[in-house]
Amino acid sequence: MARQGEVGTRDAFDAAAADFAALGRHLWEPVGADAVSAAGSQPGERVLDACCGTGASAIPSARQVGPGGLVDAVDISGPMVAELRERSAGLSQLKAHEADVTSWGGSGYDLVQSVLGIFFFPDMEAGTRHLIGTARPGGRVAFTIWRRGAMDPAGRQLALAVAEAAGAEPPGERPKRPGDRINQPDTFATWLNDLGLSEVDVAVHERTLPMTPEIAWLLVLGSGYRGVLGDLDPDHVDRARDRYLARLDDVGLTELDATTLVGTGIAR
Ligand SMILES: C[S@@+](CC[C@H](N)C(=O)[O-])C[C@H]1O[C@@H](n2cnc3c(N)ncnc32)[C@H](O)[C@@H]1O
Repeated sequence: MARQGEVGTRDAFDAAAADFAALGRHLWEPVGADAVSAAGSQPGERVLDACCGTGASAIPSARQVGPGGLVDAVDISGPMVAELRERSAGLSQLKAHEADVTSWGGSGYDLVQSVLGIFFFPDMEAGTRHLIGTARPGGRVAFTIWRRGAMDPAGRQLALAVAEAAGAEPPGERPKRPGDRINQPDTFATWLNDLGLSEVDVAVHERTLPMTPEIAWLLVLGSGYRGVLGDLDPDHVDRARDRYLARLDDVGLTELDATTLVGTGIAR
């Protein structure tokens, strides 16, 4: 359930799109590069990049498949897709689509990948099954998720700061999410096996994000955390920003765990 002032996933990413691209070189692009090297596309292949955002994995994949291949890059947020179209001008093999990928009609892909996307699906398991079903038999599948504990400390300080800035009671711990039960290497591997993939492998990519004031605030503006600001008025946002940065200082959060798990397998 959304907390007071929060908006849904699509609205959050619509609002975040420009800052999302700015945060890219610090976070999304290195995470996307790990995913692309795990999935390893060949020239001429057909790829579905689900929840593509502004292209952190879709663009390098398009370079790998080359002009004879295809990357269908799908995102539910129009502004994210618009940013991707600008950033990928000249890569004619990359087709950017604004759509809910959990009902995407394409099929027969050599590779289906989704980086930091599947845990946003309202029904994570059904949505992920659908993605797997778009791969050809024997095609590769690669999903990236946050490892347990990654990103959370920043989210907690932000939630406390937003409440403080409104003079409201501190919120409780964040509610459990479906992704929480798969965010360790063993639980992720079991889940992918249960979804019918063979040759499942989960690789851990350790990463930290330096939390300078500039990057720490960009993390809020340019990610799903944007939804926490929801429709707050500008003064409230300014106060929340000051409180958030002061809180990070108080708790000594100078580096944020941004470790990902890349789960790969073969569709039957
Ligand atoms: C954290 S971002 C990751 C974007 C990109 N893969 C990257 O790593 O930079 C998650 C993205 O998932 C998209 N998304 C969430 N639910 C979706 C859905 N049902 N269909 C398509 N895109 C979705 C959001 O709009 C957002 O762009």
